[in-house]
Amino acid sequence: MPLSQRTTLTQFLIEQRRRFPQASGDFNALILDIALACKAIAGSVAYGALGGVLGAQAGSINVQGEEQKKLDVISNELFIRACEWGGHLAGMASEEMDEPYAIPPHYPRGKYLLVFDPLDGSSNIDVNVSVGSIFSVLRAPQAVVDGERPLQAQDFLQPGERQVAAGYALYGPSTMLVLSVGTGVHGFTLDPQLGEFFLSHPDIRVPEKTQEFAINASNSRFWEPPVKRYVDECLAGKTGPRGKDFNMRWIASMVAEAHRIFMRGGVFLYPRDTKDPSKPGRLRLLYEANPIGYLMEQAGGRASTGREPMLQVQPTSLHQRIGLVFGSREEVERIEQYHREPARVRDDIPLFAERTLFRD
Ligand code: F6P
Repeated sequence: MPLSQRTTLTQFLIEQRRRFPQASGDFNALILDIALACKAIAGSVAYGALGGVLGAQAGSINVQGEEQKKLDVISNELFIRACEWGGHLAGMASEEMDEPYAIPPHYPRGKYLLVFDPLDGSSNIDVNVSVGSIFSVLRAPQAVVDGERPLQAQDFLQPGERQVAAGYALYGPSTMLVLSVGTGVHGFTLDPQLGEFFLSHPDIRVPEKTQEFAINASNSRFWEPPVKRYVDECLAGKTGPRGKDFNMRWIASMVAEAHRIFMRGGVFLYPRDTKDPSKPGRLRLLYEANPIGYLMEQAGGRASTGREPMLQVQPTSLHQRIGLVFGSREEVERIEQYHREPARVRDDIPLFAERTLFRD
């Protein structure tokens, strides 16, 4: 498509802002700073092994008992440096940092908080499979904006429904930025020659029905009964209660998984399980579940813990983990329904498979 017919990210944001004449423009500038960080990360990722910073061999650090690869740390730095100076933020929280990052005193303090996972799915880096960055924008408490008190971890503990924007960058065969500022979900593809994101997927909608699910089935013995039931029914295909065959995918990179679901539907589950009693789920509420949940809901999909809508969960700590189910609305609602139904008797015996112990 000729350049004259393309819409840049900047043009898109300005046009959206014209619909809200009272808006200051801070927000647009923040999104453009985030986009710059993502372009820089895309550049580092694209160099692969030639960049000399990938993989544990190239150096790693230990945070919260987990090995962090250097590219994670570099990506974290890129987010901070691109977004701290502009006067739009009061603070940032990242999956890669134990504590929140307050904007240094030599920069003006803004009214937003930025929450991000700079490089999600990073175990895929070593094997050259798609990874991504995820971000979420919240409003900062007025007392923090006014400098009346310092930033605290508590300030980030807002339910997902209070997000004002969220998005992700996918570093795949092409680099994409997919975002919502509360007016639907829109996808932009990076033109690597011009270094510019162009609108390529306006108004993305998650198809309501699907025949594809994604789950790490190696955890099946730790799943709770509603999840086991759902997956069993998908696997039974045409011969089971669903009466249709399902396809299964697992990339182990949630951004890539979410992107596939935005493009062609599907459902993703990393549910609460009994594998490690200290971790009620694998994924992080603030850095992963909430931003992806916000995007899903904006695109007509759904995100849930299985028990309640993800965006209504009141966070209790910065790095909290949670069971996450998202994707096509009908499938997520079915999984929620299975969680509401009482425990079923002897799922393994076909005679009992449709019976519940306590039928209404
Ligand atoms: O949280 C990081 C992450 O890499 C997600 O992107 C992905 O969905 C998940 O972990 C993969 O987990 P597992 O290695 O258990 O399949």
